[in-house]
Amino acid sequence: MIAPSILSADFARLADELARIVGADWVHVDVMDAHFVPNLTLGLPVVEALLKVTDIPMDCHLMIDDPDRWAIGYAEAGAYNVTVHAEAAGDPVKLAKDLRAAGAKAGLSIKPGTPLEPWIDVLKHYDTLLVMSVEPGFGGQSFMPEVLDKVRQARGLVDTGHLNLLVEIDGGINSETIELAADAGVDCFVAGSAVYNADDPGKAISALRDRAAR
Ligand code: DX5
Ligand code: ZN
Repeated sequence: MIAPSILSADFARLADELARIVGADWVHVDVMDAHFVPNLTLGLPVVEALLKVTDIPMDCHLMIDDPDRWAIGYAEAGAYNVTVHAEAAGDPVKLAKDLRAAGAKAGLSIKPGTPLEPWIDVLKHYDTLLVMSVEPGFGGQSFMPEVLDKVRQARGLVDTGHLNLLVEIDGGINSETIELAADAGVDCFVAGSAVYNADDPGKAISALRDRAAR
């Protein structure tokens, strides 16, 4: 699955930018609060507006403090998958239950320096694991191959029936790095600059999908 990130889109024309990502499986929306990460993007009112103009399932990536308070609003608004950061969540098990009760899939994300091990039991309550392959905050950074060990570990836990979730990766995915991530066992690839900096985002999506399947 390919999930283009609108972080690299033209924020003045977001509805048009959603229409350009032909063939996207999900649209990835990066919510940043200038506290959990050193950048500020958009929040619930913009997400609500975008949900009205697209049928693409929305993958909201909340890079915010206190997701226990704020995440539920995105689920209630109709986001398909709502991902919170393990480093920021107070009660991640309750959070997952609340997100699911509100009709969304629940995602848990870990930063590059956060180990997977301590979160394995918590992840039994989640539908997606988002492994960050850059420090969260900005698009256009270089892929960190060292996170692939965590991807392989998660893939193993899923394949042996210990976890039941999608493994998603975010940061620095392009036509080269997507092959490494696919080999390590990623199911869903977020790509911002690789899709939106292309002349034809739809073609970029299908090219990425082909590379992942090689
Ligand atoms: C970074 C965001 C990513 C970002 C990826 O903190 O979470 O979703 O948009 O951008 P690229 O694909 O350009 O690394
Ligand atoms: Zn993201």
